[in-house]
Amino acid sequence: MKTITSIKELKELLAEARAAGKSIGLVPTMGALHEGHASLVRRSVSENDVTVVSIFLNPTQFNDKKDLERYPRTLEADCSLLEKYGAQIAFAPSVAEIYPEPDTRHFSYPPTDSVMEGARRPGHFNGVCQIVSKLFSYVEPDRAYFGEKDFQQIAVIRRLVADLGFKLQVVPCPVIREQDGLAMSSRNTLLTPDERAIAPQIYAALSASRDFARSHSVTETIQYVTARIDAVPGLCVEYFSIVDADTLADVRTWDAAPAIVGCITVYCGSKPIRLIDHIHY
Ligand code: PAF
Repeated sequence: MKTITSIKELKELLAEARAAGKSIGLVPTMGALHEGHASLVRRSVSENDVTVVSIFLNPTQFNDKKDLERYPRTLEADCSLLEKYGAQIAFAPSVAEIYPEPDTRHFSYPPTDSVMEGARRPGHFNGVCQIVSKLFSYVEPDRAYFGEKDFQQIAVIRRLVADLGFKLQVVPCPVIREQDGLAMSSRNTLLTPDERAIAPQIYAALSASRDFARSHSVTETIQYVTARIDAVPGLCVEYFSIVDADTLADVRTWDAAPAIVGCITVYCGSKPIRLIDHIHY
């Protein structure tokens, strides 16, 4: 596996691969890799001749400086894992390489980027679109792999791809969970043992809500999930929205859209750590 920090070198290497007729898969990450990322990389390796994994802690998508400061940084371990997963290229540029000048582009894809996380983390999806559009133009992948754990992010990226006319397939990959149901996330390493012990209650409530939803309205289901999680000391629901899986607009009835998903963000512990998850109905 090659580890590259320069955009020029990355482009040269990929131009050679493309000229040789090779297909290219891209897995964008911010590092602190875990089994969730492994599943994306393995999928890309099985579907493409060359897999590029970017490791870049993108400052423009952090609206909260403290969140950026405490984000785990594990570059050496990440590169060893990528080698093991079979990736051909790790692209780990510096902030100056990606943003020699401030990126002043503004992306707006409402309602996908204005609801839920978009409403609570101003500028977050704009920063995601800035970095993802740059990566797409450097790598020009045939396929780009994203974890469904960040369900809203995929909806926004689909709009970005359509808007800018990128010729690539967005491949959503299923959430990978710990044995107790907690969705894998780089942020989980920031949880204390006590916080880690209560965090699985989030997915337990979401799973139970599927049965509950069969005989209750959307509003009642929102109340059920919120009350059940808020009853756990140390957990506090920031929002739980039941939305159209494509547009992410709120739905009022179960027949309002072909696919409906419940998206949640919960504060865990006293720091607190924000944990996100979702469930399909
Ligand atoms: O999902 C992530 O880790 C990030 O938002 C992404 C897509 C790598 C962009 O920085």
